Amino acid sequence: VTSRRPIIAGNWKMFKTLSEAAALVEGVKPLDAVTGGVDVVVCPPFTALDRVVGVLRGTGIAVGAQDVYWEDSGAFTGEISPVMLKDIGCRYVIIGHSERRQFFGETDEKVNRKIKAVLKHGLVPIMCVGETLAEREAGRTEEVIHTQASAGLAGLAPDQAGGLVIAYEPVWAIGTGKTASDQDAQQVIAYIRSLVRDWYGAPAADQVRIQYGGSVKPNNTAGLMAQPDIDGALVGGASLEAASFTGIVQAAH
Ligand code: G3P
Repeated sequence: VTSRRPIIAGNWKMFKTLSEAAALVEGVKPLDAVTGGVDVVVCPPFTALDRVVGVLRGTGIAVGAQDVYWEDSGAFTGEISPVMLKDIGCRYVIIGHSERRQFFGETDEKVNRKIKAVLKHGLVPIMCVGETLAEREAGRTEEVIHTQASAGLAGLAPDQAGGLVIAYEPVWAIGTGKTASDQDAQQVIAYIRSLVRDWYGAPAADQVRIQYGGSVKPNNTAGLMAQPDIDGALVGGASLEAASFTGIVQAAH
């Protein structure tokens, strides 16, 4: 439990056609009546963003994108800019998800450029960090997190750092059904907060919201949220059904 406002975000990944996305978000919409005290965000694929923003208009549920490019516009075939995301009503952008790092050449330097670009346009980055199983077993978790966070967050102003959302997603817990234990998640998340304190000072560290991600389900949410440094969850699979996503949001209170 913290004084920070909890934030639950659903990362739909590469799932949901337009009609499926519309149906899912209609199922999520009633959450608006019960979210009191919790920020709720859904992150559909680019093709469904505009429709989902439309369905959620007038509610307190926010919409995020799953990636972004750092230029405002230009000859960058296939890319989407922060200006475009802002224009259609997105408020958040997931940056540096492990799947992008693993399959699409995302580097810490690109993550940093994307974070700065998104902040410039008043969007909130959800920066993902996390170690692989091999790294954890080799005792390298903190080293990996330190590298990803220091490069990803380089050159921000303290108030920018404080306004971020960071998601700690151990790669071995993503889509595997293996959640990190509450204590393991708390330990790494407290370490991330200590890094923000070292680099950007106590006010930023107290303000920055840090989520856990990796096989979050309705029945393991409360235990994670009870940890002092865990401020929310970045949910994959369980965000693809309205019932389980709703259960997670309710358990986050
Ligand atoms: O970004 C969320 C994610 O990577 C976790 O996925 O399916 O394990 O909840 P999942």
